[in-house]
Amino acid sequence: MAEPKLRIEGYVILSADGMLADKSHRMPASLKFDADQKFFETALDAADLIVHGKHSFEDQPRSAQRRRVVLTRKVDTVAPDPDNPKATLWNPAGATFEDACRRAGVTSGIAAIIGGPDVFGMFMDRYDTFWLSQAHDLKIPDGVGGFPGIPEQTAQQILASHGLKAAEVRKLDPVHNVDVTAWRRPSATP
Ligand SMILES: NC(=O)c1ccc[n+]([C@@H]2O[C@H](COP(=O)([O-])OP(=O)(O)OC[C@H]3O[C@@H](n4cnc5c(N)ncnc54)[C@H](OP(=O)(O)O)[C@@H]3O)[C@@H](O)[C@H]2O)c1
Repeated sequence: MAEPKLRIEGYVILSADGMLADKSHRMPASLKFDADQKFFETALDAADLIVHGKHSFEDQPRSAQRRRVVLTRKVDTVAPDPDNPKATLWNPAGATFEDACRRAGVTSGIAAIIGGPDVFGMFMDRYDTFWLSQAHDLKIPDGVGGFPGIPEQTAQQILASHGLKAAEVRKLDPVHNVDVTAWRRPSATP
């Protein structure tokens, strides 16, 4: 099979203080906004492969139809998921992302990286675009930072330090002050 050549796009919604989950490691209802959920769902419908850690399944109406790679240390390298024929289990300590994509049967198109924090961190130097949604009026005290390095640095500082640049901003929910910014790699085609 051909060497995979996927466009890599990241998706997250963070609170104003950079959190993606609360102190119990769950995404609180206060961080769920209809317009952002719709944006996220539409993007995943257009992706060819979804990539996430064990606890970041997106749970949407069309989730079962999507090919996905799930990170876990329960396998040594890559293996089929016995519970989901569309999923491949991947341990990055034993196999490359390209190995996982090949095993998943996806070698072109868009890979959507959807978390959690360590998974976002692994792809920092590879994103073509990172879609950063943020709820600017919401704080989650003692929450879980969206990327490794938060809260010492902001999400924006981290994306910039990996060569991404803020491009277009779309207001998703003006009442709750939620927007999404496309952080693009200058060398990538939009
Ligand atoms: N706000 C948002 O947009 C957003 C986005 C994503 C997630 N979240 C929330 O964040 C929380 C989940 O966070 P989480 O920290 O538990 O993240 P997670 O990455 O979804 O799950 C962690 C698990 O994934 C596997 N994993 C992660 N990195 C790995 C690596 N490098 N190598 C091998 N396996 C790896 C491990 O599974 P095993 O234990 O099986 O080895 C690990 O226990 C949930 O509440 C979720 O809803 C929110």
